[in-house]
Amino acid sequence: MSPEVLPADLLVGPAPASIHGGSQWRFIGPDPGRVGEYVLADVNDAWYAPAPATVDAMRRALERIQHTPEVHGECLRRLVAERLGQPEERILLGAGASPLLQRLILRACARGGPMLVPAPEYSEYQRVAEAAGAPVFRCALDHRTGLRIDPEKLAACAASCNAAVVVLSNPSNPAGQVLSPDAVGWLLERLPPSCLLLVDEAYIDHAPRASMLDQVSQRPKLAVVRSLSKGSALAGLRAGFASVGAAWPGPRSDIQQPWQLNLLAQAAFLPALDAGAYVAERIAETHRLRNRLCQDLAALPGLRILPTDVHFFLIELGPGLPPARKLVSRLAGRKVLVRDGTAFGPPLGSEWLRVTTRSGAENRRLVAAFAEVLALPSGGRLP
Ligand SMILES: Cc1ncc(COP(=O)(O)O)c(C=O)c1O
Repeated sequence: MSPEVLPADLLVGPAPASIHGGSQWRFIGPDPGRVGEYVLADVNDAWYAPAPATVDAMRRALERIQHTPEVHGECLRRLVAERLGQPEERILLGAGASPLLQRLILRACARGGPMLVPAPEYSEYQRVAEAAGAPVFRCALDHRTGLRIDPEKLAACAASCNAAVVVLSNPSNPAGQVLSPDAVGWLLERLPPSCLLLVDEAYIDHAPRASMLDQVSQRPKLAVVRSLSKGSALAGLRAGFASVGAAWPGPRSDIQQPWQLNLLAQAAFLPALDAGAYVAERIAETHRLRNRLCQDLAALPGLRILPTDVHFFLIELGPGLPPARKLVSRLAGRKVLVRDGTAFGPPLGSEWLRVTTRSGAENRRLVAAFAEVLALPSGGRLP
């Protein structure tokens, strides 16, 4: 039996501002050679390089860069579809997860009816739905339970607003929580009859057993989006794919740009999908680095770290500490970039930061910068 939905559970109102990481470019200009000057803990990119075989494939493609790639990556799409056991027309390729999320949200919203997302949640979904004129409802997560997605509450919220589509990230961003495949399946079965479910698995390399990718062919209302940006460490390349269930509307309303996947991305795609062992080993190392980073930050006064299943985590700033905005700017003055939790909207506010694990040396720089800015008097100026 679903719990009753309280007004405080179902949030309405404008989406939080769609703020992304990567503010280092503002400071250093377009030259990636200068990226190392900053600790990029405001964006959930990998701190490690892509798998060697993937890099080799891109090097070889670079030598042929004068050639136009296949217009919609048709050959690649066929090969990805074969691997996933899905008909080709149910596989989409794109320049990262972002354009795929956009296409699928637009398809779902074109049927009418509201979109439901957990709150806090990655803000892009809401931005797209609102741009399409679709109403958006948000189901507030409870930070006393570590902002875990509660499938019962989400199902109750979906029924209460008669959602046409539910969109969620799994593992979730910004809380880094994993929902089990059983819980996702349970949710799917309890959504309103024509309600679709879009699961964004951008961070699934941190919890591969939680993936719903192999269930899409048996679950028509489900679509899963994958990114090569995160675990595969290819954020600068822009590549991703989606597997879309049979109940999803077809591509009638899509405006698909030609050559979304450039020559390097088409060459790197399959080697990256084959690099599972390399990625698993890098993720295990990342989790060790994260544990150490969380331990060091938790030792500083006033910082409460929320447990996480991935490489990024939320920090609650205790009473008496400056608001997130001020800390973000003080840290940026020390070339350490972290994310202001306000960007994710309610129930997160100015007492929340999101931090992403980097290499051991960068994490030490980050902890030292935190120790310095927390030691400044409230409202104090940077030396
Ligand atoms: C949950 C989530 N989905 C998708 C993306 C974007 O992925 P891509 O780089 O593949 O477009 C991000 C980026 O931070 C994200 O946090």
